[in-house]
Amino acid sequence: MWTRLREDVRVVFERDPAAKNWLEVLLCYPGLHALWIHRVSHWLYRRRRYTLARLISHLGRFLTGIEIHPGARVGSRVFIDHGMGVVIGETAEIGDDCTLYQGVTLGGTGKERGKRHPTLEPEVIVGVGAKVLGPITVGRNSRVGGGAVVVRDVPPNCTVVGIPGRVVVRDGRRVDPLAHGDLPDPVQEALRSMQRTIDRLEARLQELEDRARAARETQEQADVRQAAAGS
Ligand SMILES: CC(C)(COP(=O)(O)OP(=O)(O)OC[C@H]1O[C@@H](n2cnc3c(N)ncnc32)[C@H](O)[C@@H]1OP(=O)(O)O)[C@@H](O)C(=O)NCCC(=O)NCCS
Repeated sequence: MWTRLREDVRVVFERDPAAKNWLEVLLCYPGLHALWIHRVSHWLYRRRRYTLARLISHLGRFLTGIEIHPGARVGSRVFIDHGMGVVIGETAEIGDDCTLYQGVTLGGTGKERGKRHPTLEPEVIVGVGAKVLGPITVGRNSRVGGGAVVVRDVPPNCTVVGIPGRVVVRDGRRVDPLAHGDLPDPVQEALRSMQRTIDRLEARLQELEDRARAARETQEQADVRQAAAGS
């Protein structure tokens, strides 16, 4: 646990040039506090203590201005800078080493059920005020510009800006929307989309297996307690 906490603090120094010393970081970085509170609420959520998990997440929101649903999956070395107004939905997934700025929403479009929030692959940066909506995937090492509204998948190593979000940089090259070589390959996009669906289904299956295991363990503990009370 201490290793993880130290890593969280180190990440702040790496990504925020304004961070001066350990004490300041420990006391004055709401993004850090929100992630720590989220770990507790997520732990409870996975054990189906939904109301307590939600209550703790609500207290976290009150203290930090950052709302992370207890069900959201957040990777390692994630950094939320400033944080005020960040909203992260129940089925959102944030990969390792991602950075979010203030006012970011990882939300649903209101049209889906089940997995309805975005997935950020590792090393994604989401700029101030950007909205990433729906069960879409932002590919590894991509950047979402401040103020963008992204409603479609973003391939890896891209910069996406504007409303609706459009890719302006891909693999370090400016994208000319009219250049033939930059037109999207529909077959590749379809394969990527299928792969992402498979990944999502696998993650969902894993989650259901985890829940079933937790339920079995709870039941077993209850049986043991009942047997002990009876003897
Ligand atoms: C998108 C961003 C990450 C830059 O990525 P990049 O890959 O280096 O992209 P570039 O700066 O080369 O810009 C590419 C194009 O997108 C435009 N662009 C960049 N950011 C934009 C934004 N947020 N909204 C609209 N257009 C934007 C640029 O003007 C440029 O357009 P051009 O080709 O017509 O000149 C950066 O502009 C950004 O928005 N960062 C967010 C940082 C943040 O939230 N900081 C908060 C600190 S408190």
